[in-house]
Amino acid sequence: MIHSYIAKIEDIPQILSIMEENLLATNKDKVTQELERDGFLLYRFTESELKDIINNHSDHLTIVLKSREEILGYAIGHNFQWYRSKNWEIVSSIPEKYIAILNSEKNYYHRQIAVKKGHKGIGNKILSTVFNKVLEQGFDNIIAEIVHKPFKNERSIACHQKMGFKIIGTSLLGDFTTGVYFKQMNIN
Ligand SMILES: CC(C)(COP(=O)(O)OP(=O)(O)OC[C@H]1O[C@@H](n2cnc3c(N)ncnc32)[C@H](O)[C@@H]1OP(=O)(O)O)[C@@H](O)C(=O)NCCC(=O)NCCS
Repeated sequence: MIHSYIAKIEDIPQILSIMEENLLATNKDKVTQELERDGFLLYRFTESELKDIINNHSDHLTIVLKSREEILGYAIGHNFQWYRSKNWEIVSSIPEKYIAILNSEKNYYHRQIAVKKGHKGIGNKILSTVFNKVLEQGFDNIIAEIVHKPFKNERSIACHQKMGFKIIGTSLLGDFTTGVYFKQMNIN
């Protein structure tokens, strides 16, 4: 029986283990084709960062998907205002219309999603739970970045596009070029 819920502190070891196996740094020996097919993560959260994120529900959301006692995947995101104040510059080529939306509406930054190796068809289930929580919390839109260069995270792009994300531009994340993806939630 699979179920998703807002992560608890005791879930951190399993989240970190899924994160670790999906990091680009862990998969350096893979060829480009494999990285693009399976997807990869750039950022390794520390245990203490995860504790802060899980304890602070006003700016952050962490969802886990569990089958019996085993966590099969997770997603971490933030209030965009919070994320932007820490990490994000709009150095991107995003149309003015979206810059205005990012400046004025209540946006959620979908930061990281990962599925335990050997499992598939989990990403869309986690995203559905994220959407429900984001709507409950009154967010207007979700924004996400997915790496396009030097490797294109094809798996993640396919998963997010199937769930309604549209590409609106590109940005820079260190040495990586990302696609900026957007999903409107407040459709009345
Ligand atoms: C990205 C990730 C979360 C997606 O989760 P998932 O469980 O693999 O995704 P799903 O199976 O729900 O959906 C992927 C869909 O894209 C399709 N797909 C997968 N790879 C594809 C590719 N290279 N090209 C086109 N479509 C592809 C799948 O067939 C699936 O479609 P379906 O639902 O019709 O079968 C997961 O693969 C993962 O953890 N990857 C490593 C970490 C990562 O890349 N995270 C995202 C960082 S932005």
